[in-house]
Amino acid sequence: MAAKQPLIISDRNQMRKWSRMMRSQGKTVGFVPTMGFLHEGHLSLVREAHRHTDVVVVSIYVNPGQFSPTEDLSVYPSDFDGDVRKLMAVPGSVDVVFHPHNLYDYEGTNKKKSTSMINNVVVLSCIEQKGMGHETWVRVENLEKGLCGKSRPIFFRGVATVVTKLFNIVDPDVAVFGKKDYQQWRIIQRMVRDLDFPIEVVGSAIIRDSDGLAMSSRNVRLSPKEREQALSINKSLLGAKSAAANGQIDCNKLKNFVIQAITEAGGRIDYAEIVDQESLEVVESIEAPVVFCVAAWFGKVRLIDNTEINL
Ligand code: PAF
Repeated sequence: MAAKQPLIISDRNQMRKWSRMMRSQGKTVGFVPTMGFLHEGHLSLVREAHRHTDVVVVSIYVNPGQFSPTEDLSVYPSDFDGDVRKLMAVPGSVDVVFHPHNLYDYEGTNKKKSTSMINNVVVLSCIEQKGMGHETWVRVENLEKGLCGKSRPIFFRGVATVVTKLFNIVDPDVAVFGKKDYQQWRIIQRMVRDLDFPIEVVGSAIIRDSDGLAMSSRNVRLSPKEREQALSINKSLLGAKSAAANGQIDCNKLKNFVIQAITEAGGRIDYAEIVDQESLEVVESIEAPVVFCVAAWFGKVRLIDNTEINL
């Protein structure tokens, strides 16, 4: 049987209409937001969405709101046709690929651009596009501060804002996020709770290559040597997890072990933190469920990974 061809929608009103039509037919809508350049990790989120709902929407949109001026949005990889082919190969395919051109274009006339400072970083407070300047941001104030938020201070307000916009447009019953982006998943869960979105947020397990490297669109930018070095992240996290299972609950000792292993392999640590799974607050010793989160540079590529520890 030929794979189902998804409907490609780029207009937000059409997207909303489609979801409402599904609802009126008694169908539940699942949603997987992505920035495209899909890999097996994304496809696993689609498979997860199929387990929860009758129809599935995937969005492909590279969100300018989550890039700082030093992070080059224009070099973000994209392969729309390849992405659609990959989605069609997933059992059940997807029903809609939502591919908006510009979610910050409001068809207005005001083209003024403005900037402001967050944690000493200049950020666009108003995204200048063809329409009225966008100036409304969603912030999850505490959860966004630590871990990746330290080195990427505007990232999570950009993510929370675009996910809010996408939720309002796609209007899903269930949304699936990967646990590789652990902080992002927890932030979206908290936002949905705090702002009363009628959406269930599902966290889906990290998908790894056969050698253990967590799948990421950034992996293609690693040289063969850097890729080899990067295996130290998962290996050392697994080592720390088994040390914890054997009674080592002192977080400093576990962190030092991971930092040393990654540094000796040739990586440069951005952070290695053991935090509470829900509050994402740093803990000194493992008394409750925690997650060990790492971000490290290999050459010019910054990778993140994590492992949950439930003793
Ligand atoms: O995880 C991502 O790909 C992005 O942060 C998301 C959730 C699609 C928002 O742009």
